[in-house]
Amino acid sequence: MSLTIAGLSLDNPFVLAPLAGYSDLPFRLLCKSLGAGLCVSEMISCHGVVYQQQKTLSLLKSCAEERPVSFQLFGADPNIMGEAAAILSDWDMDLLDINMGCPVKKVTRRGAGAALMSNPTKAREIIRQVIKNAKFPVTLKIRAGTDSSNLNACNFAKMAQDQGVAAITVHGRTWKQAFTGRADWEIIKSVKESVQIPVIGNGDITSYTEGKTRLSQDFCDGIMIGRGALGNPWVFDPQGKPDDLSAINKIARAHIGLFITHITEPHRRISTMKNHLGRYFKGFAGSSSLRKSIYDAKSFDELFEIFPEPIDELNPPISPNRS
Ligand SMILES: Cc1cc2nc3c(=O)[nH]c(=O)nc-3n(C[C@H](O)[C@H](O)[C@H](O)COP(=O)(O)O)c2cc1C
Repeated sequence: MSLTIAGLSLDNPFVLAPLAGYSDLPFRLLCKSLGAGLCVSEMISCHGVVYQQQKTLSLLKSCAEERPVSFQLFGADPNIMGEAAAILSDWDMDLLDINMGCPVKKVTRRGAGAALMSNPTKAREIIRQVIKNAKFPVTLKIRAGTDSSNLNACNFAKMAQDQGVAAITVHGRTWKQAFTGRADWEIIKSVKESVQIPVIGNGDITSYTEGKTRLSQDFCDGIMIGRGALGNPWVFDPQGKPDDLSAINKIARAHIGLFITHITEPHRRISTMKNHLGRYFKGFAGSSSLRKSIYDAKSFDELFEIFPEPIDELNPPISPNRS
């Protein structure tokens, strides 16, 4: 199983989805080490890039070990998107993705994200400007359509292909659905049958095996996994998540280490790390006291103390009665 996007050959067709607040460099490195063929950054504002906002620039952090990597841009102004693409061309990355799938109001009320699926003319201009200015192959992430009466993913994908987009990810829900209901994989398949560029299918995949089945049934050329990777970066490993707590503990500890090494900006608070950690142990009998310790921790040192090596039992050695 392989996937090649505009000459960039990935080790395998499994892709970590862009996840705002989650798919930062530490998590991307972790997913890559467990098997992801490509990881996508969280969405990055084109205005933040053009106006060189520190918070935005910190999201562009990368390192050689995570390559190949894709950075995702969002915005509604074709000129600013083009300008941002030109600026990003000086950064180390392999692919530049355009977000036309985000349903969050903060994004769509400005005409960006999934709102662009209701405005193909503007979407085309954005794609044109980004491709004109980017030094990297440009990919696009869309939804099945705007709502059930306008499932326009196929026409949209054809338009994007005509503009020179190198690959397209389709999340099989509409803008209106946001994250409700189930992803419609038949629409993803129709998009694959409509275009010649690689199509990456996305929505509700929670295991490697499930993704492999979709690939073998020709629904798509690649599989993107979002929520299924949270607390479970082993979703990219054919062996899946271990049921052995010491193996999970080891990765949780490695994750904290990567976070401390790579995220030094003050705005990246400990809460980001806690959001990840709490998810690792969800569903394990007796894990609630461990999760409470995680949420009670006041420093990264305290978090490390919760995950000593080796871990033999779930009870954390640190009691949560801190001042
Ligand atoms: C917390 C969260 C943050 C997300 N952030 C982004 C984002 O920055 N850019 C984007 O294109 N999609 C974003 N998405 C959508 C995911 O990339 C993905 O399309 C969606 O979750 C469906 O895939 P899944 O069922 O595998 O999670 C986000 C989803 C979640 C749950």
